[in-house]
Amino acid sequence: MEEIFENLPQHTCNWTKGRLIMYKYQGIWNLKGLHEGSILAQQNFKAQPTDVLLCSYPKTGTTWLKALSFAITTRAKYDGSTSPLLTTFPHECIPFLERDLDQIENNHKNSCFPLVGTHIPYTCLPKSVSASNCKIVYIYRDAKDVLVSYYNFVRGIYKVPEEDAPFKEAFDEFCEGVSSYGSYWDHILGYWRARQERPGRVLFLKYEDMKRDATRDMKRLAEFIGYPFSVAEESAGVIKNIIKLCSFENLSKLEVNKSGSYNPEDATKIETRTYFRKGKVGDWENYFTHEMKQKIDSLMDEKLSDTGLITH
Ligand code: A3P
Repeated sequence: MEEIFENLPQHTCNWTKGRLIMYKYQGIWNLKGLHEGSILAQQNFKAQPTDVLLCSYPKTGTTWLKALSFAITTRAKYDGSTSPLLTTFPHECIPFLERDLDQIENNHKNSCFPLVGTHIPYTCLPKSVSASNCKIVYIYRDAKDVLVSYYNFVRGIYKVPEEDAPFKEAFDEFCEGVSSYGSYWDHILGYWRARQERPGRVLFLKYEDMKRDATRDMKRLAEFIGYPFSVAEESAGVIKNIIKLCSFENLSKLEVNKSGSYNPEDATKIETRTYFRKGKVGDWENYFTHEMKQKIDSLMDEKLSDTGLITH
């Protein structure tokens, strides 16, 4: 591992007071520990056809998707008053490919739990993912809100006050693709191409659509991952209860999500509350100038022009 990193392009993010250092490997900028996790996953992960990968670019709604998927798949065992989500940080409910290979292998051995979370771009996923033809759920979000969320998340982790972290610098880096897990548009494009190549095996969800009407996407998600809601369940309010359990308002006030900590890679310990900021659509308006909005919207439109996907 050390040899790999010795010769890689390196970038220090000044707006983090030099605390965030990224390396470019396989065309992707990322933190060293997350690259290491991705490399180990590429070498060791043996996807099973029954796996369901929950894939996302950081800050697009991963925590929400994990909570919903966990609640859907475990609803025969738990209800809103007994769910582990009440006492466990959602990211700890789903093994993370870049960190939890042993746990995933155990789940495979016991055929007990199909979900695996990852931020790895599609093109860098272990080969076994396409070979196994396992299912993928991909969540995406308006790039402007992704950047604002990332900016505040990173400042929160490294304890850099807003006045010491020029947003414009974070913006420029994001537009250059210098961001954890590489450029956002390439991340989306990779999964979009996978959806073209493997119809019926890749489900796209949009954060803003889910905020507007979670019921519709909950049904699509449950059906896709093989746990469809019955008519009786829908009438009994099971869908509504899961949406309520996993809502930002509910999760963010739980003790475990207010004062716990989480290790996405060995070297980092992150306070769980950092993952619950505002949970709103459109907070970018408090950070972007008109020019910045124009630039990022055009950039995303241009990069995603073949896909028909619009992120804003
Ligand atoms: P904001 O920073 O805009 O508030 P990720 O989970 O991919 O790290 O993304 C984090 C973003 O999702 C944060 O956005 C966070 O507040 C929001 N979020 C976390 N839990 C959520 C939930 N249950 N419902 C909606 N948004 C949620």
